[in-house]
Amino acid sequence: MSRIQVVASILAADLTRLGEQVREAAAAGVDRIQVDVMDGHFVPNLTFGPDVVAAVRRAAPNLPIEAHLMVERPEVLVPAIAAAGASHILIQVESTPSLYRAVIAVREAGAEPGLALNPGTPVEALRELAAHVSMVNVMTVEPGFGGQRFIPTSPEKLRRVRLLAPELAIEVDGGIDADTAPLVAEAGATLLVAGTAIYRHPGGVEAGVRALRRAVSFTAP
Ligand code: DX5
Repeated sequence: MSRIQVVASILAADLTRLGEQVREAAAAGVDRIQVDVMDGHFVPNLTFGPDVVAAVRRAAPNLPIEAHLMVERPEVLVPAIAAAGASHILIQVESTPSLYRAVIAVREAGAEPGLALNPGTPVEALRELAAHVSMVNVMTVEPGFGGQRFIPTSPEKLRRVRLLAPELAIEVDGGIDADTAPLVAEAGATLLVAGTAIYRHPGGVEAGVRALRRAVSFTAP
């Protein structure tokens, strides 16, 4: 099994010093930074846009930046988000009737597309486009806010994703911490998105990243 990657979500970062917090996560050895883009329509929260993606890109020039588009009609935002520096762009399968067009738009913009599934969305929703993406994000909370409780049936859903699309990298997102990380790692997750567990860890960012890595060290090659 390849090494599990840790992805820091800036949603839980101290936004009064975002650049510093991104640099802290990079220094702590995270593999990727995730920018949670929310439009207040697809989810009941309004967060970041292309300018914040560009700022995160400047703060972490050597790390992949992943934009998670929790927005309606994501295909409209894709070019600006990619131009701002996102190397991976996640499209929620529930967010547009033109899902194939949105995935192709990501590729045409020069980024790597991924699909994201809300907790209530069946794994089957992946089937038609699994061959066109490199990763799937299985939401382990209802998207919109950080600090929510991990949905306990998520590992079983991950196993079904693994069966349907064994070639895809599987990312989990929401309520991932040192307790839930082993559960999802055993079920096949290869990328762990964490906001609260990293940026609100009592020992600081580096301790938060270390705790996550230690929690899944049984999977190390
Ligand atoms: C959707 C957001 C969160 C965030 C991580 O609500 O995208 O999943 O990334 O949240 P926590 O703080 O639970 O790690």
